[in-house]
Amino acid sequence: MRTILFTGKGGVGKTTLAAATALGCARQGRKTLIISTDAAHSLSDSFEEQLGNTPRKIVANLFGQEINALEEIENKWGEIKTYLNALFASQGMDSVEAEELSVFPGMEELFSLMEIRRYSKTAEYDVIIVDCAPTADTLRLLSAPEITGWYLKHIFPIQRTAARAVRPVANRLLPFPFPEDAVFAAMKRLTSQLAEMKEILEDEKQTSIRLVINAEKMVVKEAQRAYTFFSLFGYTVDLIIVNRVLPPVIEDHYFDRWKKIQEVYLRLIKESFSPIPIVSAQLQEQEIVGRPLLEKMARDIYADKDPAQLFFSQRPIRIRKEDGQFVLSLHLPFVEKSDVDLTQKGEELIVKVGPLKRNILLPRVLLNRKIQGARFDKETLKIAFR
Ligand SMILES: Nc1ncnc2c1ncn2[C@@H]1O[C@H](COP(=O)(O)OP(=O)(O)OP(=O)(O)O)[C@@H](O)[C@H]1O
Ligand SMILES: [Mg+2]
Repeated sequence: MRTILFTGKGGVGKTTLAAATALGCARQGRKTLIISTDAAHSLSDSFEEQLGNTPRKIVANLFGQEINALEEIENKWGEIKTYLNALFASQGMDSVEAEELSVFPGMEELFSLMEIRRYSKTAEYDVIIVDCAPTADTLRLLSAPEITGWYLKHIFPIQRTAARAVRPVANRLLPFPFPEDAVFAAMKRLTSQLAEMKEILEDEKQTSIRLVINAEKMVVKEAQRAYTFFSLFGYTVDLIIVNRVLPPVIEDHYFDRWKKIQEVYLRLIKESFSPIPIVSAQLQEQEIVGRPLLEKMARDIYADKDPAQLFFSQRPIRIRKEDGQFVLSLHLPFVEKSDVDLTQKGEELIVKVGPLKRNILLPRVLLNRKIQGARFDKETLKIAFR
């Protein structure tokens, strides 16, 4: 199953391009499902069809779903949430605050995204197209499996088997309630589901991201930042789609300066994202809603190519042996060397790039080695271990 995520700054055309791509995939005969992780669902508006919490047929080979994240949270997090509520209440927190704290920000999107894992297991669809929330939320979303996994591991470090023996004593001694077996079971289940999802998302054979950009300063800047983040987290961006490009000939001179601005940023986009392929979609005379216009957009972008194909893949993290030492290479475009901070802690390598932080679990070969030095080779950070 191929999963394609659409992201980009707010309003650039993510939903429209996700919908157009989904129609393109369906036209190629692939059974396609389009879902949105954005709580402000707009797929229904784009297709002019009311979608709901279960997949609904839009056209031959194409189904759409607007996930009810609250239901998913209740299913997967319910038991843990009940425990956290009791835990917070035991610390004197009032119940409304406890309720708020037991579901953390980004969780709705995270649990929507978990649907990918479920569909990947059932193999019901050939392609899943995901219409994501604007970049900032998507970044938070894509780091959520890692953060939630960490959270679960560190807040509940005791194994379930040990819990049974410890509980009678713990409940007498501890100033807070000790979790029931069911809570541990729910956490274990969720931790492994998160790990599975992370594996799907990080595998370029299964998942890639399409970054939607408009040829304007702030949109391009945000896309560059997002791309650095994706590289750091090991996600593959396989296509850049520049949307709302002005047509070559416009009679009205009002747009002359806009055309010049776009030319500048189209150049910057090329310089920034090459060698990732870049395609563009023109600004149309009207908003793009409904199937006929979306289908036309798909043809404009993909021509006769398969929209589900992997247009580009480059693994951002590699490990090689060079001159007797191991070198971990991290593709980090748009990063100044002074921005990078490395810390090695046991099996963890912590790479901080500006405000972003990544925990890379070092592979076995690097476990008992120490960082020898780091240098930039073009856009690749090469960390040597000895
Ligand atoms: N190339 C285009 N030409 C004309 N109108 C467009 C084009 N691309 C998108 N639009 C219109 O712009 C509006 C916003 O597009 P869309 O909803 O796809 O953006 P979005 O990135 O999903 O926004 P949000 O961040 O709010 O989710 C829609 O009304 C859509 O029809
Ligand atoms: Mg949208």
